[in-house]
Amino acid sequence: MQPRTAMPASTAPKRNAGERIEELRARFGADLTVVGHHYQADEVVAHCGLCGDSLELARRCATLETRHIMFCGVYFMAESAALLAAKGVRVHLPEPSAECSMALMSPAALLREVMKKLTRNGRKVIPLAYVNSSLGVKAVAGEFGGAVCTSANAGMMLEWALLEGDAVLFLPDKNLGWNTADALGLPERDRHILRIVRGAKALDTAAADRARLLLWPGFCSIHTRFNLRQVERLRSEHPGATVAVHPECVPAVAATADAVGSTAFIIRCVDEAPDNAVLGIGTEINLVERLARRHTGRVTVLPLVESACTHMAQTTEDSLCAALEALSRAEGTGEESPYRVRIQSELRAPARAALERMLERCA
Ligand code: 13P
Repeated sequence: MQPRTAMPASTAPKRNAGERIEELRARFGADLTVVGHHYQADEVVAHCGLCGDSLELARRCATLETRHIMFCGVYFMAESAALLAAKGVRVHLPEPSAECSMALMSPAALLREVMKKLTRNGRKVIPLAYVNSSLGVKAVAGEFGGAVCTSANAGMMLEWALLEGDAVLFLPDKNLGWNTADALGLPERDRHILRIVRGAKALDTAAADRARLLLWPGFCSIHTRFNLRQVERLRSEHPGATVAVHPECVPAVAATADAVGSTAFIIRCVDEAPDNAVLGIGTEINLVERLARRHTGRVTVLPLVESACTHMAQTTEDSLCAALEALSRAEGTGEESPYRVRIQSELRAPARAALERMLERCA
């Protein structure tokens, strides 16, 4: 993994950053594709040629015919794009320090130690790594015959993994794992949340050996801010409102919601809602506010509570502009842009195997 160093701020005056980005995009033409996750701010989304949820971005970055992908999102997404992109395509991240706090909750070395313990007696445990994880974690998943999943395909991938082995280790998001197991009807007695507070030595191996679904105790700090009180308040203030939430929410919230799904699914819910509908949304605020603006006067879109991803918010028009300027300079001198995402060569094959097991099933 490349060092996350602070990058110099754009020298372009703020009022000109947007124009300058468009000038550079026009100059690069088909050699550059700016892509962004739905949680990016409007000022960044305005410059994206492609915007999507994490599944769509992974799929599309694998087939983009371009020379440079400028990825407006967080580190693990850009890493996946760099791994899947065609030969010769370079991926750049405008904010190399834009991490995901949930991804940081599952270090690859600890996962390897846990997997060794869980498989010590010959039990076949399939790791299913949520895309919100480091490339090191995806590589361990790949080595142990596991795969990657996103919130859009977690059900399909969990079904596959349960058939593939004696048990599945779902990581790092215990809430997504639990909600997906609920949707599949997997009994609660077959689930076990791993105890790893003091590392792998704290594991209750006897309980783990009895379970079919092992859950890593990670969570998303943005989606765990939504709670039942907010849902009840929304429903009492707007009787008949539809509540749609992301599956990273806690199980009680997911269980009471009218619809649960990825960011792309939530967008569809709002786009397809009948006129005059009221929707209460449990996901990142940039997306909720964009949907509210897009449907003003037709449907009412309200956040359950304002919950912002500060990592996604690190990318701004200024930082995108600075990264494009650096790329333009690097092209001129034949040097490498400092924003380029680099992949450790030993992680490439196993992490790619885990990602491809997902893409094969969700083409
Ligand atoms: P999606 O898979 O819905 O894009 O969500 C990604 C994410 O990071 C949610 O917190």
